[in-house]
Amino acid sequence: MKTRPQIFSSRSWRSSDNNHPTFRTTMVLIFSFFLLLLGLFVRIGWVKSPIYWRGKGMAEHRSNLYRPSNATCPPHFRWIHEDLRPWRNKGITKKMVEGARKTANFKVIIVDGRVYVEKYKDSIQTRDLFTMWGILQLARWYPGKLPDLELMFDCGDRPVVRSKDFSGPLADPPPLFRYCSDDSNLDIVFPDWSFWGWGEINIKPWRKVLEDIKEGNKRTKWKERVPFAYWKGNPHVDPSRRDLLKCNLTQHQNWDTLLYSQDWDKESKEGYKQSNLEDQCTHRYKIYIEGWAWSVSEKYIMSCDSMTLYVKPRFFDFFIRGMLPLQHFWPINDRSKCSSLKFAVEWGNNHTSQAQAIGEDGSKYLHENLKMELVYDYMFHLLNEYSKLLKFRPSIPAGAVELRPEKMIGAAKGLHKKFMEDSLEKSRNEFEPCNLAPNDPTVLREFQYKKLNALKRVENWEKDYWENERKGN
Ligand SMILES: *[C@@H]1O[C@H](CO)[C@@H](O)[C@H](O)[C@H]1NC(C)=O
Ligand SMILES: *[C@@H]1O[C@H](CO)[C@@H](O)[C@H](O)[C@H]1NC(C)=O
Ligand SMILES: *[C@@H]1O[C@H](CO)[C@@H](O)[C@H](O)[C@H]1NC(C)=O
Repeated sequence: MKTRPQIFSSRSWRSSDNNHPTFRTTMVLIFSFFLLLLGLFVRIGWVKSPIYWRGKGMAEHRSNLYRPSNATCPPHFRWIHEDLRPWRNKGITKKMVEGARKTANFKVIIVDGRVYVEKYKDSIQTRDLFTMWGILQLARWYPGKLPDLELMFDCGDRPVVRSKDFSGPLADPPPLFRYCSDDSNLDIVFPDWSFWGWGEINIKPWRKVLEDIKEGNKRTKWKERVPFAYWKGNPHVDPSRRDLLKCNLTQHQNWDTLLYSQDWDKESKEGYKQSNLEDQCTHRYKIYIEGWAWSVSEKYIMSCDSMTLYVKPRFFDFFIRGMLPLQHFWPINDRSKCSSLKFAVEWGNNHTSQAQAIGEDGSKYLHENLKMELVYDYMFHLLNEYSKLLKFRPSIPAGAVELRPEKMIGAAKGLHKKFMEDSLEKSRNEFEPCNLAPNDPTVLREFQYKKLNALKRVENWEKDYWENERKGN
């Protein structure tokens, strides 16, 4: 007992430094001996420790200190309940899951934290591979936390589970995961492959892109950016994009827009020098328009600090449902794109502080609520809630293969290999997932009401403006 632990440097100990221990110091000694003994017992497992010491070591204890387990999930997480609503009462049977096989590219099976897939058909490009890779990274991020489950995944563009085909009380809609859905379909939305990289067009994993864009945003201050609406993309995937191109600046018309066709073949030959995402944050306004379905470009456009001019969409992905017009973006009428864009740009150039604030708020939403940690949390909660509905015990089919990182990296080539290496989760997350708010339809209804209200307001401003213009002319 020569070395004095910190705890003994109390007054009672110091008062007995004269080598004649008093009754009180003897009691302190005995008490501390018992404390030591108790500590030893906890350590070797004879006595259960208080709850916050338990678990998987110091990392988890620390995480409780750094991020209280009451951190609430971002607003778009509430839609998880809505996506699973068709199965809330009856649950999900094996037959319903198999019913989704018709269009699925693969089935994911998770048993004891291991991820298996049963592949049915190839997808476009490497969507299927990078989606599987993403789910495998989730399992590495939260080892031992994923529930057992079986789910069907469809990598195609547009949703296919039509609500009108499954409306009666006896209907058993197949639960089918994909990247987007719309108001007339029941497909369950899940983060797309590009969060782990999109090798075909040289888009790096999202974690890295977010950093690059953050740096890029610092390079050009908002007020110094080109006061036009900018868009670059492939106009051939959908008629509405060809319609958009009609608004481009020419010698005869000026709708305050600058639009460019993306030629991926040419860019790939030139090493993608023209398509660095962080170099595309140089305009005050950036246009988002869907392609054949939702567009992966959305998150890159919206994280630029420019005000996003969001052409009225039909589809939604998993995160846009937490964002509001006039707060995070400016809504554009899809039936009169040119005049709607012109009005938005003029309004923004007349109200620069407000336009800048909308741009920055939109970006902030992505930089804060769509950082990779929270993409994993969304996947975690969605899978967790889904698994609670399963009415059967998930099992590994004979034809399934286990996903293993070294095998997948080994089989990949070029940029795909590099992006897998870059997006490999090398250690478990030391934080708990955010807290998912319970299902509350009133919150969602209020949100929808706010959204419709904002849309209506812009529509009226626009109408008044163009009516005045006509009168003036
Ligand atoms: C989480 O808990 C802490 C401490 O009890 C409290 O101060 C904080 O307001 C809580 N946060 C939320 C989002 O409930
Ligand atoms: C749109 O106009 C700009 C400027 O005049 C031009 O450089 C660009 O090529 C045009 N875009 C298309 C798709 O024609
Ligand atoms: C912008 O300001 C100009 C000049 O004051 C005005 O004529 C125009 O109507 C304004 N446009 C919008 C959309 O606010």
